[in-house]
Amino acid sequence: MSAPRRFGVLGTGHWARWCHGAALAAHPDVELVGFWGRDPARAGAAAAEAGGRAFADVDALLAEVDAVSIALPPDVQAPLAVRAARAGRHLLLEKPIALELAAADAVLAATRAAGVASVVDVTYLFQSDITDWLARLEELAAEHGPWEGALVRWGGSIDAPGSPFGDSPWRREHGGLWDAGPHALSVLGRLLPPVERVSAARGVRDAVTVLAEHAGGASSALALTGTAPPGIGGPTAVVWGPGGRHEMPWFTGTPQEGFARAVDDLRAAAATGREHASGAADGRDAVAVLSAVRAHLARPAVQRTTPVPR
Ligand SMILES: NC(=O)c1ccc[n+]([C@@H]2O[C@H](COP(=O)([O-])OP(=O)(O)OC[C@H]3O[C@@H](n4cnc5c(N)ncnc54)[C@H](OP(=O)(O)O)[C@@H]3O)[C@@H](O)[C@H]2O)c1
Repeated sequence: MSAPRRFGVLGTGHWARWCHGAALAAHPDVELVGFWGRDPARAGAAAAEAGGRAFADVDALLAEVDAVSIALPPDVQAPLAVRAARAGRHLLLEKPIALELAAADAVLAATRAAGVASVVDVTYLFQSDITDWLARLEELAAEHGPWEGALVRWGGSIDAPGSPFGDSPWRREHGGLWDAGPHALSVLGRLLPPVERVSAARGVRDAVTVLAEHAGGASSALALTGTAPPGIGGPTAVVWGPGGRHEMPWFTGTPQEGFARAVDDLRAAAATGREHASGAADGRDAVAVLSAVRAHLARPAVQRTTPVPR
């Protein structure tokens, strides 16, 4: 199969224009064919800003592209991803790939049935500062033994003045667990074996702290929020084991540069037929972990916590 060249964007919001559209328009090896959105006027505005044409009908866009990049709420993304895969289009997906495990399973099944490639835009894993750090940690683990534990804190701040994410209904409803959680799990998944069991506690606003048990015995804690107070957003990840204790660096690239690498990776996956490590299967596994946390949090307090005697 050849590498996809003609890309269409599903979505007309901030991320669709500012990241997907801008990165695709600047990419030397692909063509930005255009945007589809539920509001044709916004699709027109996105195309005027980033490039390509506006499509009023999603199937009309699918007919003219080799791949779609999707920047829509996760529950809107999942069925459209299935539709695009069934039409034979490669998928550049956003995190989380869905809000329900059944929907994530359907996306994965559709990609495999159609034989299309998929990559999830997990920002940190397409930044060289982070991938260099992860590569060094992999070498240390190979030399000294596997990592034993990690603390990961991921705090977005959708209430920060001027945030482009403040009016996003799904972020308000599902919180940092589903918005920041996929980023945290993307990094954690490169450090420790798969998560097998979770428990969790609620904090202020949407804060959730997850305790995770990993295959083989390692454990981790993830503190997640999408409503961090001003000035204290951002990620922290610390991992330890026989190879020492290590803290994740900040990345210095731009989201558009990272997205361009995701485009390159999708093209390579399509050309080789090899599933990408951050493809739909990995996205599906992240949804499985987040769904398990949500199920745990839905239990009555007496079933998920032990009161401290006074
Ligand atoms: N990888 C990263 O670091 C990163 C960063 C930011 C965002 N993202 C991801 O990008 C995706 C989009 O995020 P966003 O910030 O643009 O905000 P969003 O609230 O997820 O999406 C806004 C867009 O979705 C459209 N939309 C909402 N409901 C719809 C529906 N029922 N049918 C069709 N379109 C619908 C909106 O259309 P209207 O304009 O017509 O309202 C708007 O174009 C999300 O999955 C998010 O997680 C990833």
